[in-house]
Amino acid sequence: METILSSKQAIALEDKYGAHNYHPLPVVLAKGEGVFLWDVEGKKYYDFLSAYSAVNQGHCHPRILEALISQASTLTLTSRAFHNNVLGPFEEYLTTYFGFDKVLPMNTGAEGVETAIKITRKWGYEKKGIAENKAKIVVAENNFHGRTTTIISFSNDSNARKNFGPFTKGFIKIPYDDIDALQEALKDPEVVGFLVEPIQGEAGVYTPAEDYMRRAKEICLEKNVLLIADEIQTGIARTGSLLAVCGNCTCKGHCERQSSYTKPDVLILGKAISGGFYPVSAVLADNEIMNVIKPGQHGSTFGGNPLGVKVAMAALEVVKDENLAQNARKLGAIFRDRMKVLVEKSDLVKLVRGRGLLNAVVINDSEDSSTAWDICVALKDNGLLAKPTHGNIIRFAPPLVMTEDQIHDCCDIIEKTILAFKK
Ligand SMILES: Cc1ncc(COP(=O)(O)O)c(C=O)c1O
Repeated sequence: METILSSKQAIALEDKYGAHNYHPLPVVLAKGEGVFLWDVEGKKYYDFLSAYSAVNQGHCHPRILEALISQASTLTLTSRAFHNNVLGPFEEYLTTYFGFDKVLPMNTGAEGVETAIKITRKWGYEKKGIAENKAKIVVAENNFHGRTTTIISFSNDSNARKNFGPFTKGFIKIPYDDIDALQEALKDPEVVGFLVEPIQGEAGVYTPAEDYMRRAKEICLEKNVLLIADEIQTGIARTGSLLAVCGNCTCKGHCERQSSYTKPDVLILGKAISGGFYPVSAVLADNEIMNVIKPGQHGSTFGGNPLGVKVAMAALEVVKDENLAQNARKLGAIFRDRMKVLVEKSDLVKLVRGRGLLNAVVINDSEDSSTAWDICVALKDNGLLAKPTHGNIIRFAPPLVMTEDQIHDCCDIIEKTILAFKK
């Protein structure tokens, strides 16, 4: 018989037997449906994190669940030692969906970033003619691209780096949202790529100038440098368009190549590409770039497995059929309007920023104070789950299947909590 654990018992087990590599809010979740989560004691919450934007389609979406169950009972894993009957259709579907020639499927976001780095370096040597081991990739300060040793080599988060060296060479860091700095960095002829998040999610939802990606692309094009967009967090309708690089295009959750679209040379996707059911990531590029990869040079046992790709196709169909990009855009505007009113009413909140349903509220306190954390604990007590990100910033990123009534309900909870909050 299954043992029913209390929150306290579940937390104690994690504390004793699990590595202490996270600092979760003290809530133990047992069930999810749509925009809601329930803890083991049955208390219901609005989810305002969406597993770091992996559950854009809402928890346990029935269509994705059906795809998972059906494929899980047919064929789950073949490895790439053999072909399987769903990988090809998935690759056709995904490349058509995002407008690229080819895809290389992996599992986690960090693997997607590593893949993009390897493809870009190889392209640099074989197509751009860079001397062996000299290729450089430009990145932005305060980036977050994952946790591997190469990726943390170009992070400037001391906590993520301390005692994990020696680090991988070949990266140049420039300030984010600084086109002049990019222009300067790209004067170096050994630069092969610019790896960037269209909005820096983990850093605190730093939203650059509207034309940042477009101008970055122009400079990259001029210097024969690949623009690598990490849309692992911003992609799949989160910011009010299919991809954040789609800018203000008015697509119906599916890009129609409007004029504001900036096509990256290399696109990295993860998280919500599979709606929170299964880890799937993907790197997309056109033939001239992707064809530098030959058999045996890169891969993963699980990358492109039948279960993952069927789940991802269902998850992407939901994004299109339920117009999640438009919903994120509409509800995001409501959320920011409501938070701006709160900024006027309360000294505790400094500003709200973001795009679509990827937003952050900056708390008016020193970076090392626990105020944002304490507010998140109070929000939890009032039935809404959100998490502080770097500094005193709270990220608000609910599933995109939320309704207008629900977002108002959530804004009421946030407003009530902040107005009642005592430091
Ligand atoms: C922009 C970005 N890139 C990469 C990653 C890493 O993804 P994963 O945790 O799946 O390795 C994340 C995760 O938060 C992310 O936000």
